[in-house]
Amino acid sequence: MPIISLNKTERDRLLELFFTLRDLGRRYPFAKQEVMAGLRCMKAVHSNALEDRSIDRIFLQILLHNAGIPDKNRISPSYQKSYLELQGQDNLLRWLEEKAPQKDPLSISLIMEMHRRVFEKSWPDIAGRIRDSEVQIASMKHLPPSVPDIQQLLYQKFTTINEGISALGDLTPENFFTLLHYSAQAHYLVAHVHPFRDGNGRVARSVSDYIHLRFDMYYDVIMTDYKAAYLDAMEECDILNSDPLFQFLQYSYLETLERVSTFFSLVVKR
Ligand SMILES: Nc1ncnc2c1ncn2[C@@H]1O[C@H](COP(=O)(O)OP(=O)(O)OP(=O)(O)O)[C@@H](O)[C@H]1O
Ligand SMILES: [Mg+2]
Repeated sequence: MPIISLNKTERDRLLELFFTLRDLGRRYPFAKQEVMAGLRCMKAVHSNALEDRSIDRIFLQILLHNAGIPDKNRISPSYQKSYLELQGQDNLLRWLEEKAPQKDPLSISLIMEMHRRVFEKSWPDIAGRIRDSEVQIASMKHLPPSVPDIQQLLYQKFTTINEGISALGDLTPENFFTLLHYSAQAHYLVAHVHPFRDGNGRVARSVSDYIHLRFDMYYDVIMTDYKAAYLDAMEECDILNSDPLFQFLQYSYLETLERVSTFFSLVVKR
């Protein structure tokens, strides 16, 4: 499948929409809070904790946001486990939202804490722990690095990305795509290194979320409909080149921002 990417007109649209919506979010902070809550919910429902696409997502969204019975175990252990993972993911995002203004750099301890927050209830034995054995990614050619290389690779690459991000200063139309590129690099790095026994995709996507939050940006929601395109983009990347993921994320972000834009039409007539 060819990598999904934006043409020049669509990239211009992404840029313009981003800065328009950022201004609106600053003028209407309650509306922004509402939008972020909506995006968190969408992320939870489009997370791969619930793989079965035959289940209606709107139906699930209602149930998972406190409309259903509290003890999901009465329905099935796997439903309960997915529910706990989704709650963990929601907790992680709220924690990142609080933490982002401190502008801490990316680090190994940060991603360990992120993993712990998502999985402490569903997978207590591996939550927050770097793997101590080799892993493979099902149906993928990419073989993650071996255990002794994990920390050094993460440390080196995080240092370079942190330096690049710090050098950007405030987000402007001139450096917007550079920041998205750093976000794609960090996302791909965590996916490539696969530092955890499982849950690497969710932490990798949350690393991008953290970078977005540090720059007062809306979340990107990667919809399950695009899972194949997302994984194809991953497979096309390597440790020195995360461009295919960068292309895919621009596409996904434009779609997310178009959705956010429809919400703001409730708030203000433009
Ligand atoms: N070829 C690849 N190269 C690098 N990373 C990949 C590749 N294929 C998949 N990945 C990453 O690995 C993730 C799957 O790994 P893992 O099962 O540990 O994560 P997860 O969080 O449980 O899964 P998911 O992302 O499906 O929620 C994918 O989401 C993607 O981010
Ligand atoms: Mg997994």
